Amino acid sequence: MRRILSVLLALAAVVGVGGVSLAVWPIGEPPELAERTGDPQRGGYLARAGGCIACHSDPGSGRPALTGGAQFTTAFGTFVPPNLTTHPTAGIGAWTIDDFARAVRQGVAPDGSPYYPAFPYAFYGHLSDQDIADLWAAFRGVKAQEVTAGANDLTFPFNLRFGLKIWRAIYGGGPPTDPMDGRSETWNRGRWLVNGLGHCGACHTDRNLAGGRRADAYLAGSDDLPDRGKAPPIRPGDLREAGWTVSSLAFGLKSGAMPDGDTFGSGMGEVVRHGTAWLSQADREAIAAYLLDEDTAGDGG
Ligand code: HEC
Ligand code: HEC
Repeated sequence: MRRILSVLLALAAVVGVGGVSLAVWPIGEPPELAERTGDPQRGGYLARAGGCIACHSDPGSGRPALTGGAQFTTAFGTFVPPNLTTHPTAGIGAWTIDDFARAVRQGVAPDGSPYYPAFPYAFYGHLSDQDIADLWAAFRGVKAQEVTAGANDLTFPFNLRFGLKIWRAIYGGGPPTDPMDGRSETWNRGRWLVNGLGHCGACHTDRNLAGGRRADAYLAGSDDLPDRGKAPPIRPGDLREAGWTVSSLAFGLKSGAMPDGDTFGSGMGEVVRHGTAWLSQADREAIAAYLLDEDTAGDGG
């Protein structure tokens, strides 16, 4: 399958799609934001919940927060999250809110090229104009740091960024986040956090060989995380079997404590430390209530 995709991408790059060269095939829509005034405090909260700070920082290296650089390795090569501070060249200081909206919700760079799904933008597509304005207000408040994050190092043909336009068209969507009728506010909030901003499925849903999430494997675990990590299944039955209840899970997402007395390791430790530990108790309970509800098992894709 990887091989088939490689050939397909290379071929598409040569012949173009429908007569238009893939390199100039436009993607994404111009954003029309109804709301442009943001609350930086709420934006900071969303940035924690979304893991933006966790992934775009590399505390171990001594680099300032949000200067990127914490590389991770996948089957496609090594990715380096960029600097998101307000520095005009090293960071995103020269961007507009429209550039930011298009990058975060649609995965498209200011020059029109697609981002790699290592940036989990598919999960951020549901963010409202207000959410984007709040995030932007928070990022505008980050001190400029002239620290170069470094470049991705990917293998052919995945290093051909325009080939991603095909990938994006096939796999670019995220799981559903909109409120469902007949569901409690808590369940719907949990759905929004788990399937959207919290991007739990980015690690807990297995991917096919082209790196697309398998709809039939929603939250069923993945043995194929970056840097050879493994994420266990977190469907309702799996969680119950592992000894979780709504209250112990809400507490685990705050403290990192697991039912067997151990603490979360590897990637999940980071998710808790830089993400869920900062959320409100109500939001952690919503995540736990949603994940442990029987009806969640078949909810997403
Ligand atoms: C799992 C790690 C991860 C998370 C979580 C993440 N990002 Fe990123 N982000 C990346 C990577 C990797 C790239 C570069 C992708 C590429 O090279 O195509 C990126 C690129 C970006 C860019 C483009 C920057 C540029 O200079 O072109 C922006 C803006 C951005 N991310 C914002 C965010 C925001 C806002 C959030 C949270 C809502 C977030 N990211 C969460 C990994 C992540
Ligand atoms: C960066 C990848 C990553 C993301 C994102 C992620 N997880 Fe995890 N998760 C893991 C890994 C790895 C483990 C295994 C940790 C361990 O064994 O110590 C794990 C373990 C867990 C467990 C324990 C399951 C068990 O069998 O006891 C729960 C519950 C969980 N995650 C919930 C979540 C929720 C909720 C989210 C979204 C808010 C999330 N995870 C997002 C990687 C991730």
